[in-house]
Amino acid sequence: MDIMLLVTLRRATQADLAAVQQLFGALHSFNATLDARFALADGWETVLKEHLGHACDHPHSLTVLAWADDEPVGLLMLDGHTDSPLFRHRHWAELVALYVAPSQRGSGLATRLVAAGSAWAHAQGYDRVQLYVTRSNLSAQHFYVRHGFAPVQEVWRLELEPSDRLPPDDPDCEAVYAHGHNLLSSHQHVIAVGDEEIPA
Ligand SMILES: CC(C)(COP(=O)(O)OP(=O)(O)OC[C@H]1O[C@@H](n2cnc3c(N)ncnc32)[C@H](O)[C@@H]1OP(=O)(O)O)[C@@H](O)C(=O)NCCC(=O)NCCS
Repeated sequence: MDIMLLVTLRRATQADLAAVQQLFGALHSFNATLDARFALADGWETVLKEHLGHACDHPHSLTVLAWADDEPVGLLMLDGHTDSPLFRHRHWAELVALYVAPSQRGSGLATRLVAAGSAWAHAQGYDRVQLYVTRSNLSAQHFYVRHGFAPVQEVWRLELEPSDRLPPDDPDCEAVYAHGHNLLSSHQHVIAVGDEEIPA
């Protein structure tokens, strides 16, 4: 039997916190092996819990879990992003997390997750999905290219000598990023994604 038939996608609720944390943690452990600067902070679980508490109730945030029976095997997180009013094209859907458990890779599960996310983003009125991918993560880059993504910008880094000083806080940034992104009011409807239905 095709493994795809055994894996179901469901929009995450706050009750799924442990599963989201499990896969989000696995994703970022992997990312940190590629670039130590992507290591999660102490207490990240609490921040993610707060984010999920807000995001589950808001129309411009989507967290989808893939389940094989009662085991979480895939995670997709998208957030609506609003850029500064300085810019004409301020809104996009940002793919902030994509992870498939090693046992399910190559089965098309990430393809299903990204299709669900793209359909959700379009239904919400966004005209693009953007993401960051680590330069050395060639398999993810290959996956994204095969699914129509193209690089439009690069993040460049100059490493400086470690400093004893902590950089100053920017209170405006803290407010925006406290829950991942600024979040607005909510409504619920259901969108069809092929044969999947993801509440939007
Ligand atoms: C990148 C990642 C999400 C891809 O997940 P995946 O489930 O293996 O991806 P898919 O199965 O949908 O696609 C992988 C390949 O399997 C193929 N495939 C699709 N359906 C398939 C099926 N039914 N049976 C077998 N293979 C299939 C796809 O064509 C694809 O091939 P391609 O890369 O040549 O296009 C996964 O490798 C992962 O979680 N990596 C670690 C975390 C990570 O890098 N995340 C991205 C951070 S930006």
